[in-house]
Amino acid sequence: MAAARAHWGSKFGFVMAAAGSAVGLGNLWKFPYITWENNGGAFVLVYLAAVVVLGMPIMMAEILVGRRAQLSSVPAFEKLGNKGWSTVGWLGVVAGAVILSYYMVIAGWSIKSFIQCMGWSISGYEAPTKDAFGQFLANGPLQIGLTAIFTVATAVIVFRGIGGGIEAATKIMMPILVLIMLYLVATSLTMDGRDQALAMIFNPDFSKLPASGVLMAVGQAFFSLSLGLGAMVAYGSYISKKESIFGSALWVVILDTSFALLACIAMFTIIYSVPGLDERISGSTVGMLFITLPDLFYTQMPGGIILAPLFFILVAFAALSSTISLGEVVTSLMIDKRGWSRHKATIVCASIIFVGSILAGLSLGAVGPLSNFEIFEGKAGVLSTLDHLAANWLLPLGGLGTTIFVGWYLGKKDTLEELGLTRGTIPFHVWLWCLRIVAPVAIIALLVAVIAGWDFS
Ligand code: TRP
Repeated sequence: MAAARAHWGSKFGFVMAAAGSAVGLGNLWKFPYITWENNGGAFVLVYLAAVVVLGMPIMMAEILVGRRAQLSSVPAFEKLGNKGWSTVGWLGVVAGAVILSYYMVIAGWSIKSFIQCMGWSISGYEAPTKDAFGQFLANGPLQIGLTAIFTVATAVIVFRGIGGGIEAATKIMMPILVLIMLYLVATSLTMDGRDQALAMIFNPDFSKLPASGVLMAVGQAFFSLSLGLGAMVAYGSYISKKESIFGSALWVVILDTSFALLACIAMFTIIYSVPGLDERISGSTVGMLFITLPDLFYTQMPGGIILAPLFFILVAFAALSSTISLGEVVTSLMIDKRGWSRHKATIVCASIIFVGSILAGLSLGAVGPLSNFEIFEGKAGVLSTLDHLAANWLLPLGGLGTTIFVGWYLGKKDTLEELGLTRGTIPFHVWLWCLRIVAPVAIIALLVAVIAGWDFS
């Protein structure tokens, strides 16, 4: 007989764990640089719309599936649906492995920044040369070494089981990260680039946003909220039946979105305020997080020499709590569905993912053919290709499967009961029709538009 499923101690426990999964490199590394590349305003607005119309309803849907089935994604879809529906779960496993293989590489950059900041804090800050970051990216052995550190750290934690340590650590680290972020933003707002930065983020100009940019915004909403691959299904299975799914999801969405916006405000202000910085990021926008913030820490901020290394350690932790949630999705399935031991599952999955990481790590300039090939227009190299494939295609498709499953296949009786309702209220119907019609139509239309090469502008 199966043992009763353990539950989070409280709603706070769930929100912190889910926010730990959601808040990560997606908010700090990816959102600011793709917002920059897509000219701000309109992109941000589409992103926020996607969070409200797709993110929030699908977050609730994933949690609902997990709590209803009391299982993680593939078995949950099998139990509530049938073998066919479990394809949605398996798609998520593939997406998880793809994301991990490049996520580990970026996570490795935070270790490098930490070490670099330690050096600056001890012997004084010296603004890096224009192409310093590009050279770092092109250093293949270093990229692989840093990735290896991160892969091993994640594998060890996943192998031991997530419980205890890491959850406790996230609960302490996340609030500290929030405080430093707020301090960063407050300091940056005293700089003269502020108005230009805020205008760029909050003044939409739709003529600057192509269809592919809309898909990127939607994909980023999935990526940042950890949706589309069943991660929230697993977390949802641990929420107590007494908690409100709406309330829990809302907290995670608000925390995650605030983080992303705050990161943008700080970084863009720095770029507009420090002469020559736009040139330093122009060649490697992907490095924006790592290039811009040290300038603020070391030249503007009281206490910056202490906070800079601390900040990058926390970035590494935010990344770690995300890699663990992804790693857990991938390995736990091999354990449940393939009958592997946790030991075998962790080693096999980590090795396969590491091979992907090596290819991604060498695609930043170290190895020509890996860096230059292009499947998606404008996304050259293995790392960009994997990122684009996962965020813009696999996650929205996974999300589409979930909306149709919860909207059409699961009976209203199940959904109502799980949401703690006795009859369909107006908010319930708004949510349901969002899942039934609005979200699927939006996702399909967008994928078709991009395949057909449409341009809205
Ligand atoms: N949301 C995380 C970030 O923004 C990445 C992540 C963790 C993720 N778990 C996920 C993305 C599950 C999609 C699905 O960095």
